[in-house]
Amino acid sequence: MRVVSLLFSSLAAPLLVSAACPDYAQYSTQYHAPFSSGRYNLSYQRPVPECRTFISQGVEDVITRMKSAISDPDLYQLFANAYPNTLDTAIKWKGYANGTDEELTFVITGDINAMWLRDSANQMQSYLSVLNASSSPDSIASLYRGVINLQARYLLTSPYCNSFQPPAESGIAPATNGAASQDTVTPQYDNQSVFECKYELDSLAAFLEVSSNYYSATQDISFFAKYSWVDAITTILSVADAMMTPTYAANGSVLTSPYTFTRQTTRASETLENSGLGNPTQNGTGLIRSAFRPSDDSTIYQLFVPANMMFSSQLAATSKIMAQLNTSTSAALATKMERLSSSLRAAIEEHGIVNHPKYGQIYAYEIDGYGSQTIMDDANIPSLLSAPLLSYISSSSQTYQNTRALVLSGDNPYFMRGPVLSAVGGPHDGPRYAWPMASIVRILTSNDSDEITEQLRAVLGSTDGLGLVHESVNSWNVTDWTRQWFSWANGLFGQMILDLEERMPQVLKTSFQ
Ligand SMILES: *[C@@H]1O[C@H](CO)[C@@H](O)[C@H](O)[C@H]1NC(C)=O
Ligand SMILES: *[C@@H]1O[C@H](CO)[C@@H](O)[C@H](O)[C@H]1NC(C)=O
Ligand SMILES: *[C@@H]1O[C@H](CO)[C@@H](O)[C@H](O)[C@H]1NC(C)=O
Ligand SMILES: *[C@@H]1O[C@H](CO)[C@@H](O)[C@H](O)[C@H]1NC(C)=O
Ligand SMILES: *[C@@H]1O[C@H](CO)[C@@H](O)[C@H](O)[C@H]1NC(C)=O
Ligand SMILES: *[C@@H]1O[C@H](CO)[C@@H](O)[C@H](O)[C@H]1NC(C)=O
Ligand SMILES: *[C@@H]1O[C@H](CO)[C@@H](O)[C@H](O)[C@H]1NC(C)=O
Ligand SMILES: *[C@@H]1O[C@H](CO)[C@@H](O)[C@H](O)[C@H]1NC(C)=O
Ligand SMILES: *[C@@H]1O[C@H](CO)[C@@H](O)[C@H](O)[C@H]1NC(C)=O
Repeated sequence: MRVVSLLFSSLAAPLLVSAACPDYAQYSTQYHAPFSSGRYNLSYQRPVPECRTFISQGVEDVITRMKSAISDPDLYQLFANAYPNTLDTAIKWKGYANGTDEELTFVITGDINAMWLRDSANQMQSYLSVLNASSSPDSIASLYRGVINLQARYLLTSPYCNSFQPPAESGIAPATNGAASQDTVTPQYDNQSVFECKYELDSLAAFLEVSSNYYSATQDISFFAKYSWVDAITTILSVADAMMTPTYAANGSVLTSPYTFTRQTTRASETLENSGLGNPTQNGTGLIRSAFRPSDDSTIYQLFVPANMMFSSQLAATSKIMAQLNTSTSAALATKMERLSSSLRAAIEEHGIVNHPKYGQIYAYEIDGYGSQTIMDDANIPSLLSAPLLSYISSSSQTYQNTRALVLSGDNPYFMRGPVLSAVGGPHDGPRYAWPMASIVRILTSNDSDEITEQLRAVLGSTDGLGLVHESVNSWNVTDWTRQWFSWANGLFGQMILDLEERMPQVLKTSFQ
């Protein structure tokens, strides 16, 4: 087992639970009874109820209901462990902004004691199907509001950063990030509030996503008018605007980049070319730059297509919230959001599609505006494979299907193949490590029950008996995997099972024995 996160400081026990509770970073590497009765003999991995960080009766009811929807005992055990993982282990603190009624929720990614904008938005999305309007502090709605408020605070503090420290109100000490201690970043940030400052366009889109998810399920428009949501949107729009700056002015002078980043590292994907500027970007595509990918690896070409897709579709969704706020600026802001959403879509369709000799019209993963492009996909979301889940495009679109055929073949430099798991991986863990998350995305974007069943079987067999979804697993060696405690991937697995319950209930009747 390789635990990439050992770069970061270790965790204390979660604050919401007693100090006598086991540290889940350890607990999740050990086997616990009762084991599932099937051939995979999967460990039970939920902490005892007193040690869970948040309890939702709605989620418990879903877990009970699924016992009859899922026939296979191993698949059920994996679902029952994975789906509640964020609530069980990652709600590190929940409270209020100092002296106000503004809810705050600090959600850690799992084995690292920090809150990522992307992960926390996705961790909440696992519970979207049980989200309904409620003012109770014990509700999923309250968790969502707390995440949105805290993300807004983070964005107002350091809008170019990706991962953050506990709010001061929690009394939790900031985590030390050894890897980041020598980073040189503009704009500067404070390590008391920021854990890592990699500028990723999808982090901004994540705030939009968690906002539109909350609104679509609750219709709670008044929440968005109360705290800092509008200011956070204004900040996001400024960053988006600034990050459309190309490298050179029309007269050839080098423009000042709003963001630069260098790190002392031996990994090329952990720093940026050209003393922190990244590789040059041509003017005129209408796309927004991203210095890093959703894997937290640097982009090769900064016009990163999947994040532009996500940002475009989420801007459209959140412009509808803005349009209803009835303030002196909301109508103009809503129009600006809609226009940027449309212009990004047009830019992606004009510049993000390339003609591949074997697959025809496909989306590039990244472009630079000069004609260079990366033809690949990475497991992390947003990805090209996930484009339909980003609400960017229908899965039946020909360009998507062409892209998908490439991504799920040996023509994608990061498609891993082997007896344990054949799935998309990426440079973050490197060749031979396939990511279960990519198999889950493949299921969520497929209507083919054979493909879905085959992927389910592979994910089920990839846990090393531990009964949790790992970050990646060696395609040739099931005992060689990364990250024992990665809450997002676990929640996504649960979300996918619930999606199958609705779309293809017969698949959940399959026996994997
Ligand atoms: C299941 O796995 C546990 C932990 O490795 C082991 O103790 C137990 O004997 C296994 N049970 C079966 C039936 O293989
Ligand atoms: C909201 O969801 C909870 C948990 O699923 C459920 O108990 C409650 O009845 C729901 N309330 C409404 C108004 O639907
Ligand atoms: C909360 O506000 C009080 C009173 O203004 C102040 O003394 C305290 O330091 C604040 N705490 C935090 C965590 O900001
Ligand atoms: C923040 O940076 C200072 C100065 O480099 C360092 O001494 C301190 O340990 C850092 N704090 C954290 C939480 O990383
Ligand atoms: C980039 O292109 C746009 C539109 O084509 C133009 O308005 C703008 O001045 C150009 N900026 C630079 C820095 O060349
Ligand atoms: C070149 O263009 C930039 C941006 O428009 C401007 O700031 C700079 O003064 C120009 N340089 C010269 C030498 O004209
Ligand atoms: C804004 O006005 C619309 C139409 O009257 C109303 O539905 C909506 O609730 C109002 N928004 C807020 C935040 O009060
Ligand atoms: C899968 O089914 C959904 C719902 O019927 C449909 O919208 C979508 O286009 C289908 N995708 C493919 C690839 O057939
Ligand atoms: C499989 O991975 C484990 C854990 O990293 C390692 O100890 C073992 O040697 C590997 N087995 C083979 C056959 O490479």
